[in-house]
Amino acid sequence: MKRPRVFVTRPLPGKALERLHAFADVTMREKEDIVSKEELLDNVKGKEALLCILTDPVDGEVIAAANQLKVISNYGAGYEKIDVEAATRKGILVTNTPGALTETTADTTMGLLIAAARRIVEGDRYTRECRYEGWGPSFFLGHDVYGKTLGVIGMGKIGTAVAKRAIRGFEMKVLYNDRGGIEPEAEKLGARSASLEELLKESDFVSLHVPLNAQTKNLINEETLKLMKPSAILVNTSRGNVVDQHALAMALKEKRIAAAALDVYEDEPRCPVELIPLPNVVLAPHIASASEETRMRMADMAVQAIVDFFSGKTPENPVNPTVLKKK
Ligand code: DGY
Repeated sequence: MKRPRVFVTRPLPGKALERLHAFADVTMREKEDIVSKEELLDNVKGKEALLCILTDPVDGEVIAAANQLKVISNYGAGYEKIDVEAATRKGILVTNTPGALTETTADTTMGLLIAAARRIVEGDRYTRECRYEGWGPSFFLGHDVYGKTLGVIGMGKIGTAVAKRAIRGFEMKVLYNDRGGIEPEAEKLGARSASLEELLKESDFVSLHVPLNAQTKNLINEETLKLMKPSAILVNTSRGNVVDQHALAMALKEKRIAAAALDVYEDEPRCPVELIPLPNVVLAPHIASASEETRMRMADMAVQAIVDFFSGKTPENPVNPTVLKKK
């Protein structure tokens, strides 16, 4: 078999790239900063595979420049930076790495939820500033998590894993809203399906687990924020643009909701300046899946997709499987 030519946009954790080097002719960008459009345009030419990460701008122009490309393996579950329609029109398969990061992202979601509810990050700052002067009955009060109602928007793999933690670990009541097919496991957990309106009105915590697309962009906006309880806490580990960030900043500033915990932002990695002065928001730099084990698993999966594709096997996670049917 002829060795495929692969462009890898940056080094990945673990040993997966060693396997790729053994299998293919690999051109790898050694830097770990953001890959520019120009670098992508220069490097996709003549390559049969592209291994990119979820923030790389693989748009229509890049796909048009890719004269030999057969497969794009995305290191990440979210692939909104890839023009999948353009890839599909050119018969290029796109794959991603869902599953690899489910449990890690669900763990982080619960961590953020608790951090916001119990004001842990705010308390950390307070203590570091040596402002703590003694325990008091009304000192630094937050909100309970145990036994409360959690609304999960997007009951896919990660939403279901969060619901499982909430129900089994914290005896929470879980409402979920999902437009697509839900994970079979969600049914067995005892979570209840609800309209978006009911979920927002009833939940003490709302956690977002939808992909970013035309239907979910700004799903949480000025209007939907108004439906939430003044004591409610919003957690977002999905994509920044699922929330209207300005509307959220206003709601937090005016205490129309109690708090938020965010891992993702609009226009990343631009600093979310409006949120910075607000004490009632926990801010993390898109690290929900950032554990050593998970990032290595994602690398294994992304490399395996390329190996499988050129070995005549169907990769595990095709995003546009219609391309395979036409072959
Ligand atoms: C993904 O894979 O889409 C996640 O955002 C990574 O944390």
